[in-house]
Amino acid sequence: MASSTPVSRPQATRAAAFCERFGLRLPILLAPMAGASPPGLAAAVANAGGMGALGALNTTPAGIADWARAFRAASNGSFQVNLWIPDPPPARDATREAAMADFLAAFGPRPAIPEGPFLPDFAAQCAAMIEAGPAVISSIMGVFPPEVVAAAKARGIAWFATATTLAEARAAVTAGADAIVAQGAEAGGHRGAFDATAAEGQLTGGLALIPRFADALDVPVIATGGIADARGIAAALTLGASAVQIGTGFLRCPEAGIAPAWSDAIAAAEPEGTMLTRIFSGRLGRGIANAVVRAAAPPAADYPVQRALFAPVRAAAEAANDAAAMQMWAGQAARLASAEPAGALAARLWEEARALLP
Ligand SMILES: Cc1cc2nc3c(=O)[nH]c(=O)nc-3n(C[C@H](O)[C@H](O)[C@H](O)COP(=O)(O)O)c2cc1C
Repeated sequence: MASSTPVSRPQATRAAAFCERFGLRLPILLAPMAGASPPGLAAAVANAGGMGALGALNTTPAGIADWARAFRAASNGSFQVNLWIPDPPPARDATREAAMADFLAAFGPRPAIPEGPFLPDFAAQCAAMIEAGPAVISSIMGVFPPEVVAAAKARGIAWFATATTLAEARAAVTAGADAIVAQGAEAGGHRGAFDATAAEGQLTGGLALIPRFADALDVPVIATGGIADARGIAAALTLGASAVQIGTGFLRCPEAGIAPAWSDAIAAAEPEGTMLTRIFSGRLGRGIANAVVRAAAPPAADYPVQRALFAPVRAAAEAANDAAAMQMWAGQAARLASAEPAGALAARLWEEARALLP
């Protein structure tokens, strides 16, 4: 056990130290959710004393600056900006992509074979992320390049790195991460596996992952995945986390503005009603097990080609509020998500969690 391991300290003390270090009044972070991080949702969580978030994967550099301006017009609180560390260039396979396009045509418009570029330039996004001056930058699926870490540190910006195994967590700490986001298998959205092909083998639940990280690491652990009520928060802190990061649990808040069919599906989902799938992006992620997820699909293309192939189906499904073909990310605790305003929810969750802690 590491000498400064925080797990032996009382839960509330550990959470309080985290809050003090990162300028929070409650140890609840809104999860960065690409495509579902409007500034109003982040500001509501930050105004309650938690940390707001932008999932900036598909946000242009100018869009990142605009988002930060909109956040600051609504809150003096803290926020993180999150990026996915790019995978190696995708392998292209015309036969496989054509078979996928044929399959997807049953659920919406037949996709054209995409050309790319698929995403904004990563280096330019990193520069805009630092320039936006968040309290925290965060990563998933790898570690930031050394020059990005150095630029953040020079500006007093902390780095939170997502990990799904202890080896990934240790690699991130070695690269300079200030805290590790322990992503349990319960989590909604994409898996953080550094190696896209390894994701299916890195599905440890939070109950085992959080204490392992807390015992082995000298940096704070932030628990994420399947936490959506006071019981989950108290449990995560008891297992050794210093804070929690909640995604699905905030998606039904009015500020999130997700499609009604997605919100309804979250409210109705049993824990087994979500599934891991590559159909939406080529990267493994957990979403509501709707018709397009359950269908016998041919092998997905690599990320981000698959994401581009699915895009027309996704857009049509969202326009039609069609739950059968919509991309509806959700974690296993989806049913616990509350539809109350995000600030009130964050405050209530922490008040109730505190009552459960010694
Ligand atoms: C809609 C959605 C989008 C997400 N996008 C991102 C992302 O862009 N970057 C990231 O690090 N994690 C992303 N995640 C994963 C979350 O950060 C977090 O691990 C997850 O939401 C925790 O599980 P929970 O949904 O059960 O709370 C996303 C999750 C959801 C539900």
